Amino acid sequence: MLNKDNLMWVEKYRPKKLDEIVGLTHVVESIQVFLKNPKTMPHLLLAGIPGTGKTTVALCIARELFGDNWKTFTLELNASDERGINTVRERIKDFSRYSRASFGNIPFALIILDESDQMTRPAQTALRRIMETSSRTSRFILICNYSNKIIEPIQSRCAIFRFSKLEKKAMINHIKNIAQKEKIQLTSEVAEKIIEYSEGDLRYAINSLQTAAAYGEGEITEQTVLKVIGEANPKQVQLILTKALNGNFIEARKLMYDLIGQYGFSGSEIVRQIQRELIKVSYLSNIEKAELTNIIGEYDFRLTQGANSDIQLSALLAQFSKYKK
Ligand SMILES: Nc1ncnc2c1ncn2[C@@H]1O[C@H](COP(=O)(O)OP(=O)(O)OP(=O)(O)O)[C@@H](O)[C@H]1O
Ligand SMILES: [Mg+2]
Repeated sequence: MLNKDNLMWVEKYRPKKLDEIVGLTHVVESIQVFLKNPKTMPHLLLAGIPGTGKTTVALCIARELFGDNWKTFTLELNASDERGINTVRERIKDFSRYSRASFGNIPFALIILDESDQMTRPAQTALRRIMETSSRTSRFILICNYSNKIIEPIQSRCAIFRFSKLEKKAMINHIKNIAQKEKIQLTSEVAEKIIEYSEGDLRYAINSLQTAAAYGEGEITEQTVLKVIGEANPKQVQLILTKALNGNFIEARKLMYDLIGQYGFSGSEIVRQIQRELIKVSYLSNIEKAELTNIIGEYDFRLTQGANSDIQLSALLAQFSKYKK
């Protein structure tokens, strides 16, 4: 039997009800209005960045509509399934044929189609037809990262909800709650750090928390978090920046190699962290930051083209070193 203690925390703490969803207040409120009178519920398109609750919201809707029987009345499909649109079509056909005349006052079954932006245009056109022919018996919830990859005729048949980066405060509270339930020491400062690095992705935040807890034996420090996340200490990166911008190329370069030796970062990871810290520096004007970001962009591009990362990172610091002169 599955032991609840072995569960990944992202699953263990996945909300089962809409009012447990973190952030997304207006999305949840609008959906709750539909659910008060399910007959009015349109097809839904949930679009946005990873780890913000799209799949979770879809499953909550299924539960709130059908209660404990939700699995009987819900077909979950993954559109990127290699078997293609024909399988999707067959399964939807079967599902709507045999399903479930109705459940209480709900005259439809639910079809959740995850990763629908992975479908080719012809497949989406086929899907559009399926949506039309089964619309009396089925409601669709389409889930995707990029709504602009969904063809217009499908978009116009759906109420669209956008999932953007979750609010920091709500995320911090959520992981503090989890830490408390798991009896893990987590200060507000460290919780804030985890959220800062998660960039609005709650799945990433919870996974980081769990991994850091496994390292930290009951207490989570900023150091363990940085290790888990694979980030350098921001202070070390700041120091490299300051040295370089003061024209101290040799020292900046040495510090950078120390950092790479210590953590094993790739060139593009270092560049990304330099960019992140650059934005925070208080002694540069916005224009200076913009110009330096331009330089970073150039080297980031070269790295993606396969240029030698030792040379490119040194050259980047060389550019920074002569910037102020
Ligand atoms: N808004 C949220 N409220 C509460 N928990 C959340 C929320 N967003 C994400 N989570 C947590 O993160 C996990 C992953 O969320 P979910 O699968 O819903 O993300 P998603 O938006 O579907 O991401 P993807 O685009 O990668 O499929 C959930 O199991 C849950 O623990
Ligand atoms: Mg998902």
